Amino acid sequence: MPVLKIYKYPAKVLRQKTVSVKKFDNELKKLVKDMFETMYNYKGIGLAANQVGVSQSVVVVDLKDKNYEPMVLINPKIKFLDKKKEVAEEGCLSFPGYYDKVSRNKKIEVEFYDVSGKKQKVVMTDLIARVVQHEVDHLNGIVFVQRMTFIRMLKFLVHKKKFE
Ligand code: NI
Repeated sequence: MPVLKIYKYPAKVLRQKTVSVKKFDNELKKLVKDMFETMYNYKGIGLAANQVGVSQSVVVVDLKDKNYEPMVLINPKIKFLDKKKEVAEEGCLSFPGYYDKVSRNKKIEVEFYDVSGKKQKVVMTDLIARVVQHEVDHLNGIVFVQRMTFIRMLKFLVHKKKFE
């Protein structure tokens, strides 16, 4: 099983909206397997398919916490259950070495399909909710620096280095 190449900012594939998955076939299962392998190899806790150059609406998440199972979210849609937000530091495998604070909703409801095509609906809070919001943003062509305050975004633009 190959570890896939991770596309770094500002690669075009990271700035484009991904396409919904229609076929829950072996090709999809292979993509998911390779995405997990790639995420573990780079010690991430979440990965979106467009980060490995595949413009499809697929996310894998593993918080590596005994209270959470690894998850596959296909065609995920987020609903914000309340307005409460929380600020915490985030990083991204497409911005290696760059971390800064991002405000995210504390509690969300996510509708998605699992890898066999079964519809799921899950309420999430705190870190898992944060990671899923970050990854679903990727699927919509949005990267985490775009969610930062204006000042933090300026800091990013000033300190921006090459992400290779
Ligand atoms: Ni990311």
